[in-house]
Amino acid sequence: MTIIVTGGAGFIGSNFIFYMLGKYPSDRIICLDKLTYAGNLSTLAPVMENKNFRFVKADICDREAVYKLFEEEKPDVVVNFAAESHVDRSIEDPEVFLRTNIMGTAVLMDACRKYGIIRYHQVSTDEVYGDLPLDRPDLFFTEETPIHTSSPYSSSKAAADLLVLAYYRTYNLPVSISRCSNNYGPYHFPEKLIPLMIANALNDKPLPVYGEGLNVRDWLYVEDHCKAIDLIIRKGRVGEVYNVGGHNEMRNIDIVKIICKALGKSESLITFVKDRKGHDMRYAIDPTKISEELGWLPETKFEEGIKKTIQWYLDNRSWWEEIVSGEYKEYYSKMYDKR
Ligand code: NAD
Ligand code: DAU
Repeated sequence: MTIIVTGGAGFIGSNFIFYMLGKYPSDRIICLDKLTYAGNLSTLAPVMENKNFRFVKADICDREAVYKLFEEEKPDVVVNFAAESHVDRSIEDPEVFLRTNIMGTAVLMDACRKYGIIRYHQVSTDEVYGDLPLDRPDLFFTEETPIHTSSPYSSSKAAADLLVLAYYRTYNLPVSISRCSNNYGPYHFPEKLIPLMIANALNDKPLPVYGEGLNVRDWLYVEDHCKAIDLIIRKGRVGEVYNVGGHNEMRNIDIVKIICKALGKSESLITFVKDRKGHDMRYAIDPTKISEELGWLPETKFEEGIKKTIQWYLDNRSWWEEIVSGEYKEYYSKMYDKR
């Protein structure tokens, strides 16, 4: 099987490539990535010499480049991870989110229509469902929960999901969609909560918690997400949406305290800062469909996953130190100075 993985130089895409090349050594994987600020070629160093792996630097919105790659590789499957993925950046500057997340998805699916495909898989997010109230712990997102987005990021992902389902109905394109909760693990870009707090704590910098830190996210170890996508592309039904999450709801403040404790840092580093605009309160996935239909269950418990993740950031300081010492500095100062 030949699989094009877009956005494979980012957090989840790279973890997916490592997982797939390890599990199916005779499958061919082509990573198509624009290498934006969030893409890092050094992340893919461990597989660059693998004869079944190819890296192509290109923009998913570049129709000519995408069609050329399809002509060369004749992929059986496309898994689209490529996206602008950070909510805070989308609040500052929505346009690139609309371009990459919506137009890019359309270009990839047009290529699939033109050259033929066994499966186009869209990596979506639980954020398309909006949020849930804190005082209703009985409520969860199911695949039937209405789309109800809050940020430019989640709106662009929801628009892409609607397009994917429209290409299924209109052109019979064999698509599937996964909507996963918050991932954590190795190679997570340090603009996101967990790696940002680990990096700041290790540098004895303030730990900026938005609002009162009471917002709840449903955390899943990244490899469990990769396993879910692998199952969906092989056994999932065409035209279907699958929610992915492991019932691991945690408040932001509790996550930050766990990180302080694990690193032996004082909680006095915690600084409460101005809240995110339109901040979603609680995400919580009901994974019944993927569990019952495909037998997927999360395998990594949070206590084990966060330990492995923190250890990875300790063992791979050069990976994230290079990021936080570059253009990230400007981003950080724009977002957090005087917040
Ligand atoms: P990321 O920001 O770490 O990586 C995104 C990758 O896409 C980068 O390598 C970047 O260079 C590439 N990219 C961006 N624009 C591109 C373009 N126009 N053409 C080609 N490549 C481009 O993102 P992530 O956290 O790994 O998320 C991957 C996908 O999973 C996204 O679609 C996101 O919406 C979805 N998702 C993320 C989470 C999470 O918790 N991180 C949870 C659920 C779903
Ligand atoms: O739910 C899936 C989504 O999870 C993905 O679709 C997104 O791509 C991914 O970025 C993530 O979105 P969140 O907004 O939930 O993740 P983030 O790490 O940015 O923030 C997690 C929570 O932590 C959120 O409530 C905001 C808060 N936060 C975040 C940062 C960066 C802080 O309190 N301080 C911070 O500095």
